[in-house]
Amino acid sequence: MRGLGVPGVPGGPWVLGLGVLLALLPPHAPAETYTAMLSVRRALGSEGRLLRRLRAYLREESARLRRLARFYEKVQALHQDPAASVDNPLLAFSLIKRLHSDWPNVVYSDEATENIQALHAGFKEVEQELPGAEDLDGAARALMRLQDVYALSVKGMANGIFQRAGTGPPPLYSPGRRVSLSADDCFHVGKVWAPHSKRDIEVLERVQRRATELGKGLEHKADGERLRDLGLFSLEKRRLRGDLIALYSCLKGGCREVAYDTGDYYHSIAWLEEAVGLFRLSYGSWNPEDRSSLEDALDHLAFSYFMAGNISHALSLSREFLHYDPSNQRVVRNVAKYEKLLEMGTAVSTGPLRRPNGTRLQSRDAYEELCQRPGGQPAPEHLPHLSCSYETNGSPYLLLQPAKKEMVRIRPYVALYHDFISDAEAETIKGLAGPWLQRSVVASGEKQQKAEYRISKSAWLKDTADPVVRALEQRIAAVTGLDLRPPYAEYLQVVNYGLGGHYEPHFDHATVRELPGWFMGWIMGWPSRVSKGLTVPTSSLLGQSRKSPLYRMKSGNRIATVMIYLSAVEAGGSTAFIYANFSVPVVKNAALFWWNLRRNGDGDGDTLHAGCPVLAGDKWVANKWIHEHGQEFRRPCSADPQD
Ligand SMILES: *[C@@H]1O[C@H](CO)[C@@H](O)[C@H](O)[C@H]1NC(C)=O
Ligand SMILES: *[C@@H]1O[C@H](CO)[C@@H](O)[C@H](O)[C@H]1NC(C)=O
Ligand SMILES: *[C@@H]1O[C@H](CO)[C@@H](O)[C@H](O)[C@H]1NC(C)=O
Repeated sequence: MRGLGVPGVPGGPWVLGLGVLLALLPPHAPAETYTAMLSVRRALGSEGRLLRRLRAYLREESARLRRLARFYEKVQALHQDPAASVDNPLLAFSLIKRLHSDWPNVVYSDEATENIQALHAGFKEVEQELPGAEDLDGAARALMRLQDVYALSVKGMANGIFQRAGTGPPPLYSPGRRVSLSADDCFHVGKVWAPHSKRDIEVLERVQRRATELGKGLEHKADGERLRDLGLFSLEKRRLRGDLIALYSCLKGGCREVAYDTGDYYHSIAWLEEAVGLFRLSYGSWNPEDRSSLEDALDHLAFSYFMAGNISHALSLSREFLHYDPSNQRVVRNVAKYEKLLEMGTAVSTGPLRRPNGTRLQSRDAYEELCQRPGGQPAPEHLPHLSCSYETNGSPYLLLQPAKKEMVRIRPYVALYHDFISDAEAETIKGLAGPWLQRSVVASGEKQQKAEYRISKSAWLKDTADPVVRALEQRIAAVTGLDLRPPYAEYLQVVNYGLGGHYEPHFDHATVRELPGWFMGWIMGWPSRVSKGLTVPTSSLLGQSRKSPLYRMKSGNRIATVMIYLSAVEAGGSTAFIYANFSVPVVKNAALFWWNLRRNGDGDGDTLHAGCPVLAGDKWVANKWIHEHGQEFRRPCSADPQD
């Protein structure tokens, strides 16, 4: 079976048959990505510098062209004037001189080269600070995330409208200035396939769940017996074994090298369709900024349809491609291949394309439903006796400025304190954190790992950083009645969410779910005495592990969270409590408080929460995590597991 050519790899070495999965993207290079809106604002500054360079270039070039035009008009006037005869020796002299000297000077002028060299040099100066390829990928994925979570129409987005697919107005967000995307823009989005690392995480979750299920009831047996009981040689188990091997390499730090899937044709096809449609409309005109063309978009779209199993459409798009570029041998071969497949009747009937299902479908759907919920506020009937109150908590500190508390939920206990911080304080905290913002890390085993599923940038502020931070901590202590002195609370974490910035469903407290060591032993072929009693904290990749800094502080689990909204956003960005089925919108200067643990010290499963993607705006929050220790007399324990 002859191989099919993959777009972008002319006659490349890629060989694939129908149904063979292949990773089209090279493994992601772990790199800083352009996420925080702060970086996007800085990028605006870089473009401002480039604009000034281009204006200077245009000025120089226009002057040069004006000088050329003057020369042209002067000579042209002589040619059109019947009285300007070469009988006049002066005119004869100037003709000879022009042809010998003036014309070469004009034609071989260095001026154009000097101008373009100045432009290049100006670009080089700015180049260091420009976004890279992975930043562009990240931005494209952000658009797809918004498309998914807010169920936005791709056609609408390409036209600059944030409208739910299949519904009429009003849009979810109406920008002050509507900006539509070009064909080349859509092509770039469509080219980026599903985020691999997210898939890795999902596979890990699935493996973890299945491994736990499989091992149930076998705890008392010896390893050999377990394997026999599990019948690990069946096909289904063998697949699990593959996943476990992937899991193992991931645990060793190679998560990103594990390729599970070819990609996500649901998204790529939607965006490439837009690109092809727009390129067809403007065919024949050329924009200097475009890197791609109708042919590129057709090529990628045809390949996506082929991979999605729609061979007849892949064929018709490839034929359209050959209409514009008949000499492309790779596409000629693909066409022959598609024709043969159709002839053989091996065409897979796919039905309508559907969004790929993650493994966390249930929580994903709930998450998206909560993010989409207008206003994000719980319906009043869900709050029968909840109300707002002014609280002093017996604190002299609050007598002067009582906290404006709004109960959001009783179970889990979630309260919103309005006007918790002033505009000036919020600005100070953002200013202090700005220079320290790093790609967010998620507590993950021994070392902190950058995580794709938390798209934001964060910094940690000590209370000694500024009197404003100290005052804020005192206010948190007064309002919550909890002890925040080190090591009973973590430093203040300041987060700047980025383009489409979000945080997938998670718990703030540590939830250790472990894979039995004998499973790892089996994968690795360790003797059972090595794996005996060993557990592998797979949850380290998904939440907090016992080795995370959270545990290293040795002050217990995170008993409570205080999340302060330092900015307003225009749309999106709510905090969604997935299992509890409600979301809290961003309320500038307010603080959201909740208990992560029940009184008996167990994690409260109802606190599973997520930061919805920011649809429009710049979301800043400050988090304060308060630990169990130190709070014994402030929040007494209870034996009631429901409390
Ligand atoms: C293939 O895609 C085209 C265009 O989207 C669609 O009209 C057609 O029904 C699809 N065919 C199959 C077999 O899915
Ligand atoms: C996703 O899951 C739903 C049921 O949960 C199923 O009906 C649908 O076919 C699945 N879609 C894909 C693309 O696998
Ligand atoms: C979540 O809340 C919404 C609206 O308040 C309601 O329609 C829906 O049935 C609830 N879902 C669950 C799973 O309770």
